[in-house]
Amino acid sequence: MQRLYCRHDQLSVLNSSLFVFHFLPIENKIPPLIGWQINWLSWNCQNEGHNKLIALPGRLNFVGFHFQTSAGMYRFLDSDAVRKERRLIWAVNRSVMENLGSIHKKNGKKSKSHWNLFIGLLRIFAVLLKLTGFYKKGYGNAKHIRVNEISLSYPDLPAAYDGFRILHLSDLHIDSIPGFASLLIDKIKPLQFDLCLLTGDFRRDIHGSFSHILKPLHILGKYLTAPFGTFAVLGNHDTYLMAQYEPESGMELLINESVEITKEGEKILVTGTDDPFNFYTDAALLSLETTGYAFKIAMVHTPELSQAAAANGYDLYLCGHTHGGQICLREGVPLISHQFEGKQFNHGLWHLGRMKGYTSPGAGVSGMPVRFNCPAEITLFSLKRS
Ligand SMILES: [Fe+2]
Repeated sequence: MQRLYCRHDQLSVLNSSLFVFHFLPIENKIPPLIGWQINWLSWNCQNEGHNKLIALPGRLNFVGFHFQTSAGMYRFLDSDAVRKERRLIWAVNRSVMENLGSIHKKNGKKSKSHWNLFIGLLRIFAVLLKLTGFYKKGYGNAKHIRVNEISLSYPDLPAAYDGFRILHLSDLHIDSIPGFASLLIDKIKPLQFDLCLLTGDFRRDIHGSFSHILKPLHILGKYLTAPFGTFAVLGNHDTYLMAQYEPESGMELLINESVEITKEGEKILVTGTDDPFNFYTDAALLSLETTGYAFKIAMVHTPELSQAAAANGYDLYLCGHTHGGQICLREGVPLISHQFEGKQFNHGLWHLGRMKGYTSPGAGVSGMPVRFNCPAEITLFSLKRS
């Protein structure tokens, strides 16, 4: 296990890269002179004492980017050196996008008008619910988490993985409901699983501090330990700054990279990308261009990269983000939706060519801590060779 440490002022450098990127097109690509920019900014910030762009939480005296080398049952496809460099470049790009507040999509930059409309409608709806007394009922619904057990059959599944169990959690938004970690633990404790995959959105808010979710996540992490690893991707509610707590959480973050899992000599691949809803870069797409495995799992916060995953021969695509609508008129018919990939991706199991996909309705809630006709869920998949 190795760590590359950046000092607090160097983290500010990453944030201060905003200065440079104001004058450079990002265009979902990594600027070729980024290394030079980092060095220049480092000199510039240290000499001029820049530390003003972001109010960092007080405890962030050191930032550790954690890189796990081959260990136990899994190993990362890329070398430590490549992963370190990629993670640093990713952090710079992500920090710029977060600080600019713009939305970067696969098909270009978007305004936040739809998102703002969505939030506005939610607020109006919250008032209506409170006036009519339904709010309490919806809050109670949100605290009731079901365990959904799903069997997935594949004719080409390597024999060693017949019966392999994957626990999938998404959209915890762990601070939306007080004591939510305990509710999750009660459900997870009795479950047996080989691999645990989390598809983003760990906190409620999109901006601001996240220090308050570290303790519940740390406690929850103890119950998510799996023999073949616990892997997570970031969602649109998560900040790149969370990556520094990767070792404490017990989860390995997959940021546009793949990990190879070996069981009884047979290998499968798990690829995780950064969130494509707000923070798409071509690196996410490129990370899905993998070959040479009999079975491949893609984990992405949203269904947006499902076409690319299917085209690259992935067998299973796990995502969340939609919350299944969270507030539905009847099951599967959301009152408000902010995903545009098609109705079939809103909730549950879907198919794209030979690839199976699953959009989790999420364990937690955001916007408003209520659910109607759309139960919170943690999902336990069982792979079958058939
Ligand atoms: Fe979410």
